[in-house]
Amino acid sequence: MSTSSHYQQHYQAAINTPDAFWQQQAARLSWYKTPHNTLQQQDADHYQWFSDGVLNTAYLALDYHIEQGRGEQTALIYDSPVTNTKQRFSYRALRDEVAQFAGVLKALGVTKGDRVVIYMPMIPQAAIAMLAVARLGAVHSVVFGGFSAHELALRIDDACPKVIVSASCGIEISKLIAYKPLLDDAINKASHKPGYCVIYQRPQLRADMQSGRDLDWQLAAAKAEPAGCVPVKATDPLYVLYTSGTTGKPKGVVRDNGGHAVALNYSMQAVYNAKAGDVFWAASDVGWVVGHSYIMYGPLITGCTTVLYEGKPVFTPDAGAFWRVCAEYGVNILFAAPTAFRAIRKEDPDAALQRYDLSALHTIFMAGERLDPATYDWVSEKLQKPVIDHWWQTETGWPIAANPTGIELMPVKPGSSTLPVPGFNVQILDDNGQQLRANEQGYIALKLPLPPGCLTTIWGNDQRFVDGYLRSFPGYYASGDGGYIDQDGYLFVMGRTDDVINVAGHRLSTGEMEQIVASHPAIAECCVIGIHEPIKGQQPLALVLIKNGIDVDETILEAELVAMVRQEIGALACFKQAIIVTRLPKTRSGKILRKLLRQIAAGSEYSVPSTIDDPASLPEIAALMHNRGLVSPV
Ligand code: COA
Ligand code: AMP
Repeated sequence: MSTSSHYQQHYQAAINTPDAFWQQQAARLSWYKTPHNTLQQQDADHYQWFSDGVLNTAYLALDYHIEQGRGEQTALIYDSPVTNTKQRFSYRALRDEVAQFAGVLKALGVTKGDRVVIYMPMIPQAAIAMLAVARLGAVHSVVFGGFSAHELALRIDDACPKVIVSASCGIEISKLIAYKPLLDDAINKASHKPGYCVIYQRPQLRADMQSGRDLDWQLAAAKAEPAGCVPVKATDPLYVLYTSGTTGKPKGVVRDNGGHAVALNYSMQAVYNAKAGDVFWAASDVGWVVGHSYIMYGPLITGCTTVLYEGKPVFTPDAGAFWRVCAEYGVNILFAAPTAFRAIRKEDPDAALQRYDLSALHTIFMAGERLDPATYDWVSEKLQKPVIDHWWQTETGWPIAANPTGIELMPVKPGSSTLPVPGFNVQILDDNGQQLRANEQGYIALKLPLPPGCLTTIWGNDQRFVDGYLRSFPGYYASGDGGYIDQDGYLFVMGRTDDVINVAGHRLSTGEMEQIVASHPAIAECCVIGIHEPIKGQQPLALVLIKNGIDVDETILEAELVAMVRQEIGALACFKQAIIVTRLPKTRSGKILRKLLRQIAAGSEYSVPSTIDDPASLPEIAALMHNRGLVSPV
């Protein structure tokens, strides 16, 4: 790579003169009060971006474009193969719906800083609710619709919402998911009780309403007074989004308003090469960070048309669904998880269903999990378009490493998420926090300060933010991922170094599953690890030790554990396998050697550590995994 490349110039400018670089990016937005402060360090661990700026993110996403003459341009396309619905909202129409729903929330007492939990399927009302909360300067916390009542209750207790917005049902491939009973159950379980619930009644399944607490969205909106945009400080929170950590308690990632808007706007141009009027489709869910950043705020702040798709890549109705949507709406930029393409490839290996005109499509971006070279090759070959892997996390909110297509399309190396995005100083560290050399694998860490848009803290638990991310390597943010940087500066992300796994692009905690499994009365001890799964990337596997004197049938026990995890976390955990073992490999101090178990399941070479207490446990477990066909072919 030439050192004078455009990319290098951007990258060096962001690292060497961050104030000037980000001030320039901030100037591209319309603020109520333009910030003079750019980056400020508050103390050893905390930084603030644009602290004296005042703005409203929903204004930037909607009203601003109407003022710029784009009011009639389509802001949002809703495409729902599961309900046979297609609907377009212009910027003006979406703004009006948002203002109207903001009026509903305002009448319920929601004001600046209040939290509103949103538990919705992929319908336009989910987007409207998020923007309405932002319009009021309040803080939304969207909970993915696939989560169980228990998970929802955890989030309600942490965020303490004044109001919860939900819908009567979601629609999966061939079944209705009744949301309202889950919501009622969650509120019963939670200690915090919201004042009100606003329920969007869908015709496929109407919900029973609790008088005094529940309001019908449509009836309330019809009576509401539209509400205007409330100015907030750049440092005020826009949202809290919960993500899995290593413990059973999810972490509420806090995103500010100002840094977030600046960073997303920059990323839309620098990473995605998107401009106003482009059609941008992130085939994710508003319950995940991809949905927040690139179904909602990024495309709308940039003035794009965003696609909200209520369907799957396969079976709704077939593996041609992605191509149909891209062609029908002239999608220019597609963003999806590799797992979606693996599912499409399984159903339609020759891409025979790709018989649409995809001439509008420029680029396909993938994230959420490692883009394996086989999937990269298949998509590149079938579409003959650039396929870009990029790496990021809920915590950062936008890509840390990518091929910066809006600056310069760099040569692709399959297996690599390419180069650090300007603003992110990516380093590979060893156990002692020392920088490693090119091609040496270690912990991926980001040198502080982080660029705008990254998490500012963990909701209600700043100590968890400091301890969880900043203490492992002083002066760095520890990403939780491992990998290496090659001689050309390309980053290869190899997987998590902690107990987080990634199932179909969904981030899950094995620690949380262990807590659930361990609560079964027959279980003395257990360990849950992520093992390879050809479509979803990973799936959880439990290794369980039975209490002395208890006699259980493995099949029955497994079914009970599967039901428990499904009940406590949700079907999305895809927890389907549990094996009874007689011992677990541990260090002499009693720590389960999870990495070793993962290596056995991966069929890779492993060395037995000298600290192991019971080396004979290893061949026993390896044999059990082999018998169940759970060891990956190397
Ligand atoms: N609401 C309720 N239930 C949900 C749900 C939701 N929003 N999302 C998933 N589930 C349920 C499914 O119905 C399924 O239940 P089941 O075990 O009763 O069949 C279970 O959770 C697992 O779902 P999923 O992981 O979606 O598996 P699948 O076999 O139905 O589909 C894929 C497989 C690969 C097509 C699908 O996982 C997919 O589209 N993945 C892409 C994910 C993605 O975009 N991630 C975002 C990261 S950027
Ligand atoms: P989430 O916070 O749910 O977005 O999940 C973030 C995690 O997903 C990261 O820490 C990685 O482990 C994984 N991930 C996301 N994108 C990639 C990628 N492009 N390559 C490898 N891993 C990825």
